[in-house]
Amino acid sequence: GAEAVIIFNQGNDPTREGLIVGTLGVDHGVTIPVVGASFADGSALAAAGSTAHVLVLPSETRTDYNVIADLPGKNKNNIVFAGSHLDSVTDGPGINDNGSGSAAILETALTLARSKPQNSLRFAFWGAEEEGLIGSTAYVEELPQAEKDKIALYLNYDMVGSPNYIFQVYDADQSSFPAPVVVPEGSTALEDLFESYYTWKGQPYDDAEFSGRSDYQAFIEAGIASGGLFTGAEVVKTEEQAAIWGGTAGASFDPNYHQPGDTIDNLDLKALEINSDLIAFAQLTYAFSTESVNG
Ligand code: PHE
Ligand code: ZN
Ligand code: ZN
Ligand code: ZN
Repeated sequence: GAEAVIIFNQGNDPTREGLIVGTLGVDHGVTIPVVGASFADGSALAAAGSTAHVLVLPSETRTDYNVIADLPGKNKNNIVFAGSHLDSVTDGPGINDNGSGSAAILETALTLARSKPQNSLRFAFWGAEEEGLIGSTAYVEELPQAEKDKIALYLNYDMVGSPNYIFQVYDADQSSFPAPVVVPEGSTALEDLFESYYTWKGQPYDDAEFSGRSDYQAFIEAGIASGGLFTGAEVVKTEEQAAIWGGTAGASFDPNYHQPGDTIDNLDLKALEINSDLIAFAQLTYAFSTESVNG
């Protein structure tokens, strides 16, 4: 019979249909024998001899939007830019991914709206990140070069309140962008600001992979200094990390990543609060001066 590689991403619940990702030699609606199906950790999803129902969702076209908010400062030609994606995957409500970052920059924007900063502040709520960084990429690509030149720095916040969190800062020194893309020079200063804040607050931190998995990608490619925060997604917490940050070793940083359980009840509010304060702190710091980043 037909053989297929089946990747289930909706949790270990036999009453729910799995989602098949990838190219299959079988069509929607057919029932195929299961040779064996297991999760990445080796636990069984379905036993050999059972059957799987192939579900292929019909494709559709939708319009999505970026929401951009500007607070002009005294200097209209030096913009401090923070962004978070506002969309979620269709499988879940997306509260940590990425209501968390969106709420933090919204609160920062509302608070700073009463001020007249030196530099200009811009906030973006990106659309269609989960479909492949579509909103942020379109924005940067459509921006005239003269407008790109006004952006002093871009800070990205995607998943900042993970329930089994560790504090992570995008690592400017160890990016894994394929050549010729290089992380712009000023990015190290952004990383340093985040790290010095955690140190000030007595919070341990680690590097996060800077590899293009979120909306900073287009900014890096445009040569704009970038940075950001991350409290972890599908990666499993080690014993060593649990000793440092607490939480559960052997469980993902966010066990509800891209799933229905990514709700308001499954945030770590302490992590979210510390990161929200830091997000406001960074925006306020660079509202005064971006000299440490751009010279
Ligand atoms: N961009 C990923 C998502 O939205 C999350 C992520 C952010 C993963 C940063 C790694 C680094 O699902
Ligand atoms: Zn996501
Ligand atoms: Zn995300
Ligand atoms: Zn570093």
